[in-house]
Amino acid sequence: MPASSSPRPVAYLDHGATSWPKPEQVVHAVTRALTELGGNPGRGAYAMALAASRAIFESRRTCAELLGVPDSRDLIFQPSCTAGCNLMLKGTLKPGDRVVVGSMEHNAVARPLEHLARTGVEVVVVQGDRTGLVDPDDVEREVRAAPTRAVVCQHASNLTGTIQLIGDLADIAHEHGALMLVDGAQGAGHVDVDIRVLGIDAYATSGHKGMLGPQGVGLLYLSPDLDVQTQVQGGTGGGGSESPDMPIERPDRYEAGTANTPGILGLGAGAAFLITEGARQHRREAELARQLIEGISTIPGFRVLGPPAGAPRVPIVSAVHDRVDADRIAFALDRTYGIAARAGLHCAPWAHRTIGTVDCGAIRLGIGWGNTGEHIDLALRALRDIVSS
Ligand SMILES: Cc1ncc(COP(=O)(O)O)c(C=O)c1O
Repeated sequence: MPASSSPRPVAYLDHGATSWPKPEQVVHAVTRALTELGGNPGRGAYAMALAASRAIFESRRTCAELLGVPDSRDLIFQPSCTAGCNLMLKGTLKPGDRVVVGSMEHNAVARPLEHLARTGVEVVVVQGDRTGLVDPDDVEREVRAAPTRAVVCQHASNLTGTIQLIGDLADIAHEHGALMLVDGAQGAGHVDVDIRVLGIDAYATSGHKGMLGPQGVGLLYLSPDLDVQTQVQGGTGGGGSESPDMPIERPDRYEAGTANTPGILGLGAGAAFLITEGARQHRREAELARQLIEGISTIPGFRVLGPPAGAPRVPIVSAVHDRVDADRIAFALDRTYGIAARAGLHCAPWAHRTIGTVDCGAIRLGIGWGNTGEHIDLALRALRDIVSS
């Protein structure tokens, strides 16, 4: 066991799953929501409910500024990236549609698509290469082959850290009259996202990973021209309660039910932090990832997955060992060294199949805010010990 009986790790290297710790501003914003802004936003005209509504409005504006979304009303708060992916896919695809998707997708996309395939949506999977990259030429070939409603691709892989060329894919999709739908769970917060430059139609992301917000909140950008069918109906506050239908205005159309005020305010504080600190943070993460990849590569028996050291990637580093299995490594990292990391398939069997690790899984170290060079040194020493003992 690590020195203390507290579950707090000595080094937290599971930012691919969720970021921890959070910047002080995020903790403060969540606390403020719980202690000062407890009214139900949009559900009352008394001061505390109005203040909660206003704080949510500001949080949405800050997130829009970070992601380059021109009109913050096109940015929808969701309970998770998974919920955002479901809305983006199920709200736009119908039986008879054809969709072209990369093979590195997380189950947040793979499972809704497998579900839609059973309802009559044709799902064409384009194979990524051994580094996890989906080649835009391969996507174009498939999009040309038959009328296609949408191209779907992740921004970055939660297994290999590979950054997909989503701007190029968007150009291809649009040239052929298709939509470009993106799962940005591992993108936003770790790489610059400017929706205006990328020109994509929808971008779903988690609030609790690179965006540094709390768990239980996510974001979905929907282009103003995109008609997305609601998947959840219910109360939206404001006027128009007598109507049996959801309002057509965004964001209310897609935000039925009481908002997650603590989550949304925490996310807004994470976005504000990234607006000022993001560039420095990204440089730091890239440097730590390079240090980790180079270090693991010198340990006998390890093979690092994904792009080579120095090539662009989000700061996720996964590896396999030729003798010691990933679960055993993760267990020893935690119990003996107090290092939090994740082994297995990472909810991404498609991705593991693509790079040939579906039978063994991998050990994943996800770098993020709060990590230091000492954390990486500690992890490297621990990995060396584990596989040599
Ligand atoms: C690529 C990718 N997409 C989607 C998700 C789902 O995110 P959430 O758990 O916030 O719904 C994850 C989470 O690990 C992910 O890595």
